[in-house]
Amino acid sequence: MAASLRLNARPFTSQHFQSKSLPKLASKVTTIRCSATPSVRRYTITLLPGDGIGPEVISVAKNVLQLTGSVEGIEFSFKEMPMGGAALDLTGVPLPEETLLAAKQSDAILLGAIGGYKWDTNEKHLKPETGLLQLREALKVFANLRPASVLPQLVDASTLKKEVAEGVDLMVVRELTGGIYFGKPRGFSTNENGEEIGFNTEVYATYEIDRIARIAFETARKRRGKLCSVDKANVLEASMLWRKRVMAIASEYPDVELTHMYVDNAAMQLVRNPKQFDTIVTNNIFGDILSDEASMITGSIGMLPSASLGKEGPGLFEPIHGSAPDIAGQDKANPLATILSAAMLLKYGLGEENAAQRIETAVLDTLNRGFRTRDIFSEGNKLVGCKEIGQEVVKSIDPKVPIAI
Ligand SMILES: NC(=O)c1ccc[n+]([C@@H]2O[C@H](COP(=O)([O-])OP(=O)(O)OC[C@H]3O[C@@H](n4cnc5c(N)ncnc54)[C@H](O)[C@@H]3O)[C@@H](O)[C@H]2O)c1
Repeated sequence: MAASLRLNARPFTSQHFQSKSLPKLASKVTTIRCSATPSVRRYTITLLPGDGIGPEVISVAKNVLQLTGSVEGIEFSFKEMPMGGAALDLTGVPLPEETLLAAKQSDAILLGAIGGYKWDTNEKHLKPETGLLQLREALKVFANLRPASVLPQLVDASTLKKEVAEGVDLMVVRELTGGIYFGKPRGFSTNENGEEIGFNTEVYATYEIDRIARIAFETARKRRGKLCSVDKANVLEASMLWRKRVMAIASEYPDVELTHMYVDNAAMQLVRNPKQFDTIVTNNIFGDILSDEASMITGSIGMLPSASLGKEGPGLFEPIHGSAPDIAGQDKANPLATILSAAMLLKYGLGEENAAQRIETAVLDTLNRGFRTRDIFSEGNKLVGCKEIGQEVVKSIDPKVPIAI
């Protein structure tokens, strides 16, 4: 049932192309019957639409997956479950047990986004974001792959000069279940002056660094063979160990060129000369920040997918953007990041490379035909909403065109 990390899958590049018991939780189960062939593959996908624009982009991505499945001989059984703020409203917790169970029992999970103003003042354990951290932790998805490629069609949407942005094609491999977001001790206290303090702990164990380093080396090996490890080893002990272990693991990958960079310099280099990067490996908090920075190079946060993978069990696939409450319910969201996350689900989660490539090609074709949502719009193109661009992607998934890998 479970789909483990498939490092044989080819990387994502510009060329080829995230309690309380709940007895009566309503879940929508849809089984999509595809053309019956003897070799039909069947997968169960848990859909977690979440909040804000989440349901809008998930609905579009589900349509794309459905059609792709029918063209490629894949039968999907979709199970839609509440998560984040939606789950809080329904059940009182951000990650209901039933949602987690469904997720664990599926082959892969596609998440929209969680969060919103309504829950911003909730206590920490009742925030939508807590549910997402709980989900990642429970699924043990320690490796977060975030590609950032500047598509030729969208080079003008980048905030950087054309000559700096053109051709950027990098992958951030972020450690996702360790470091300061999970480290203990953490909390609030008072210092010797009686002032309130808040504190967190950045901590990494050898095994956590070794496993993410191996994934990064494997990823780099299948790309352009260059890995840059980003840390703050001039100040932080956890980073000193990080660097030592990455260097030790490097001996297993003599064909990959390893460099090291301090995070402050990396933040600068990403906007100065992003083309110097192929694969970047870094800890949880640095990866969070740097991958958002990298997203702006590509033009819009609405374009970027991500895959979160563990050693075994289903992977979690989600766009890197949040729930965008400012545009929620207005049909303005760009669903391409979620559609591309569905492609990553097929490629990295299920090993269905042909189907993944069919989606990636359809996204490029839709952009080539001039369709743009507001966030990536430029003069001369056709401004459309979330639903319409989704319909155009569906049109581009032409069953008559075989996708050869
Ligand atoms: N993985 C997640 O679910 C996730 C990630 C980040 C933030 N959040 C949550 O989302 C909420 C909003 O956070 P934020 O405003 O900092 O980040 P955000 O990513 O939701 O939005 C940032 C900006 O980008 C725009 N944007 C985001 N996605 C877009 C898309 N697909 N198409 C077009 N425009 C898009 C928004 O309109 C907004 O202007 C918060 O509650 C936050 O905690 C959730």
